[in-house]
Amino acid sequence: MKKTIPIEHLKIGMFVELPRAWHAHPFLRNSFTITSKKQIQKLIDHGIREVAINDAKGIQADQIKKEIDQPEKNFGEDLKETADRLKEILTDKEASPEDKAQAVQLHSVDMLRSLWKNPSAERISDFKQGVVNVVDLILTDDATNSHLLKLTSYDYDTYIHSVNVGVLGLSLSKVLLRKGERHDMHALGAGFFLHDLGKVNIDEAIIKKPGKLTDEEMDIMRKHPSMGFKILQETKQISIESRLIVLQHHERHNGGGYPRKLRGEDIHIYGRICSVADVFDALVSKRPYKAQLSPFGALKLMKEEMLDHFHKDVFEKFVLLFK
Ligand SMILES: [Fe+2]
Repeated sequence: MKKTIPIEHLKIGMFVELPRAWHAHPFLRNSFTITSKKQIQKLIDHGIREVAINDAKGIQADQIKKEIDQPEKNFGEDLKETADRLKEILTDKEASPEDKAQAVQLHSVDMLRSLWKNPSAERISDFKQGVVNVVDLILTDDATNSHLLKLTSYDYDTYIHSVNVGVLGLSLSKVLLRKGERHDMHALGAGFFLHDLGKVNIDEAIIKKPGKLTDEEMDIMRKHPSMGFKILQETKQISIESRLIVLQHHERHNGGGYPRKLRGEDIHIYGRICSVADVFDALVSKRPYKAQLSPFGALKLMKEEMLDHFHKDVFEKFVLLFK
């Protein structure tokens, strides 16, 4: 029988059923038998105060011969290992679209976190390999793609935001870029995921500042598109068109963006796609200094107050992703 208990009543041997949302708890699986005190502590550390347990599936604590730890979400520093694990799940015929969508979010965030620590050419190449599977999945599996669009996590951090923009940008590219035209979707996907890479060079105190930035801080922040472009140029891992995503994702159709105040068609189509995805995710995400909007509310605001920021066709196709 399923019941909810306070976390302090949770014991080794009990079978927990955690919320499905991947960010709601620190474990890879949502339901499993508690086999160590460390696992209970991890749940407490994650801010969980009560859990659902299933009596029918629990086992007696003394039957557990050895305390076995559940693998944690963060697979350590090894980007390749995470990419391989992701591939394994995405090519598993038994995995449901929901599981695949969760795995994409979870492992992409891990890969980005790992890459951020040291964005060398070799590691960008590994990252690109890892993203290949995500791109192929979004292009070929509509069911998982639709789950991914619904799964978007709104707790803001740079990695979650990057994955959201990756998913949104690819979903939009899928409907917007005409078949028959040559687009390297793998490089394009990597470009979307890495659009904010330049932030690795910006002081974390600015990135994580809980309030509005001062003019001086904003000037520093405005450098991240050029800095990201430079990293990708020096490491020679991504095509020029995809590097333009990084450079142009803050340009606006009306010329009010940065760094170059480009206008209209002077902004590459990939940059236009990324700017819509980026603004939408910023509006729906939770931040301490601004109201969080629903997807509908964000699209409404973009249409009513920011329409001249975006290319008309790109914005219209974007809205259709949520119909
Ligand atoms: Fe950005």
